[in-house]
Amino acid sequence: MKLKNKVAFLTAAAGVGIGQAVVRTFAREGARIVVTDAHADRARNVALAIQKEYGTDALGLGCDVTRRNEVELAVKETIVNFGRIDILFNNAGTNRPSQIADMKDEDWELVINVSLRGVFYCCRAVLPIMMDQKYGRIVNTTSVAGFRGLKAGHAHYAAAKAGVMAFTRCLAMEAAPYYITANTVAPSFIYNEFIPHIYPEEEIERMYEEIPYPRKGAPQDIANTVLFLVSDEGEYITGQTICVTGGSWMR
Ligand SMILES: NC(=O)c1ccc[n+]([C@@H]2O[C@H](COP(=O)([O-])OP(=O)(O)OC[C@H]3O[C@@H](n4cnc5c(N)ncnc54)[C@H](O)[C@@H]3O)[C@@H](O)[C@H]2O)c1
Repeated sequence: MKLKNKVAFLTAAAGVGIGQAVVRTFAREGARIVVTDAHADRARNVALAIQKEYGTDALGLGCDVTRRNEVELAVKETIVNFGRIDILFNNAGTNRPSQIADMKDEDWELVINVSLRGVFYCCRAVLPIMMDQKYGRIVNTTSVAGFRGLKAGHAHYAAAKAGVMAFTRCLAMEAAPYYITANTVAPSFIYNEFIPHIYPEEEIERMYEEIPYPRKGAPQDIANTVLFLVSDEGEYITGQTICVTGGSWMR
């Protein structure tokens, strides 16, 4: 087991996509898990389910990452229950596609707050704990949208995700003296059942057409990469963005 007894704190971890895949991968590898999500009931249900399935300790907590007090409370509860935090996986991110000329302030604020401010709140709350421990692994979720321009109404999302990459590089530099690593994982298109509620059918088809590798990307592809970054094998990797795209984005 690669994460035996490590305590992992995850945001937006009770959905149908990447977050829950990472929860399950960490649980399979023996980590004690704090499943947080804006939907508290779902977070508790996922925690109960993985406790049963993997026999690992798990705690489910409501935590909207845009609310500083909820983030700080969830981190405090984690310390009360488990005494430390070894791994932080920031999964929360959202999109509400809109062309710039039509974009409402609320669209901009929602996307930036969930995808970028939330990462800052969680890192800031967890960092002093990891510094005291002289150990920590942080992975923040970005997107290839943060590298490339897209014309389908992703300007706020791309700006937030580019911000996550820049923020994480600074974090990596500040945290390195404490044996803490910080990296980002950048998926391209990873299907889940919620996707059709966000993107129109033709945009989904376009995203598939861009992938050279001959199968669709799955949440587990991202979970495998995150596992590598937080495991002992990934110790000397910090300040990096790992793209998991089936080749749809190449740098
Ligand atoms: N799916 C993709 O194609 C894709 C591509 C690139 C990047 N990403 C990024 O990967 C991450 C996960 O995306 P996913 O599509 O796999 O979804 P997911 O299922 O992993 O996450 C959805 C969950 O996010 C939670 N959530 C939403 N707003 C929140 C908030 N303010 N605070 C806490 N929780 C909140 C929801 O309650 C839901 O349970 C996001 O950061 C997304 O931007 C996804």
